[in-house]
Amino acid sequence: MEFTHRPVLLEPTVNALIEPAFGKKRFTGQDNNSASRLSGVFVDGTFGRGGHSKLLLSRLNPDARLVVFDKDPQAIQAARELQSQDGRVQVVHGGYASMKHELQAMGVTQVDGVMLDLGISSPQIDDPERGFSFMREGPLDMRMDTSRGPTVAQWLAEASVDDITEVIAKYGEERFAFKIAKAIASRRESGPLRTTLDLAELVASVVRTREKGQHPATRTFQALRIYINRELEELAYTLTSVLETLAPGGRLAVISFHSLEDRMVKQCIAAAARPAAAHARMPILEKDLPQPVLLSLGRVLPSDDEIAQNQRARSAVLRVAERTNTPLPPEGAGAFVQGVMLRPAQGKRPTRKGVR
Ligand SMILES: C[S@@+](CC[C@H](N)C(=O)[O-])C[C@H]1O[C@@H](n2cnc3c(N)ncnc32)[C@H](O)[C@@H]1O
Repeated sequence: MEFTHRPVLLEPTVNALIEPAFGKKRFTGQDNNSASRLSGVFVDGTFGRGGHSKLLLSRLNPDARLVVFDKDPQAIQAARELQSQDGRVQVVHGGYASMKHELQAMGVTQVDGVMLDLGISSPQIDDPERGFSFMREGPLDMRMDTSRGPTVAQWLAEASVDDITEVIAKYGEERFAFKIAKAIASRRESGPLRTTLDLAELVASVVRTREKGQHPATRTFQALRIYINRELEELAYTLTSVLETLAPGGRLAVISFHSLEDRMVKQCIAAAARPAAAHARMPILEKDLPQPVLLSLGRVLPSDDEIAQNQRARSAVLRVAERTNTPLPPEGAGAFVQGVMLRPAQGKRPTRKGVR
């Protein structure tokens, strides 16, 4: 069966990478990169079915390059088909965390734009065999890369109650994490949890109250998916690599679908855009304060129209930043990402407005 994916925030994401004036409050009409931007090297870290890649390619010059990554073998098959039709495309089967290393192996030390459309694609959710959905009976797998690593079922068969509690609490922000972990451990005694519905029904039997319209297992499934695919660790590592790899004037565009990843992206951009804030109480002359490494170009939320046409878009947030000319600090780009997970979220979820 053929599963399709409808790209989210398609136009704004591509515009964010190539439009000189994107998100700039006072654009002077001068962009040091405007001539070379469309002929540059770009990265799509999350190819999926290539919606964003194809639109970007349609705007780029014939001498541009686009390196695409995906962990999912089926996404890679789609990427190879595109590569056979468009010589500007290079394909890497692997995590975006390997971006810097893979680019270096291709002889690329700087790139002009990186886009990440985080999380899972519709084909992954819709195919019961992948085990991502608590609505469809299938093996309890949830790996993006089905060629390696343990499945969720394998991990749950071995993990301690403490570890399961920690994962569900941390990555699912689930109040009943301990109750769920205990139920999993006691259920294991009568036989392993093999399928998505085994787990969904077990969680529903211990978590009775839930946000309106949400299945009781939503947070547990999110947590296990994030954990088994090491999503947040890879994102933190990748944000560091992107800062090290973007050319001055190069752009980063990230679409997030839940608050944990959006918080990490937001805090990393804020730290790199205002490094002086970390020295606020220190006796340092203004001229000696560290200068911004990134310029935040704001965030974009899907329009009501897009949400009406594609329910998956409802929780999406696109954040965009541009690399400045300032060299990275001696301690490296990791300084802007370190500890971002530890800081609590500030304020409420953004309202539906355009770039701010
Ligand atoms: C939301 S989809 C991307 C959809 C794509 N932009 C499109 O228009 O078709 C996310 C994709 O990223 C992939 N993915 C998730 N985490 C990844 C990682 N760490 N490295 C590489 N690919 C990843 C998933 O396998 C999935 O195919």
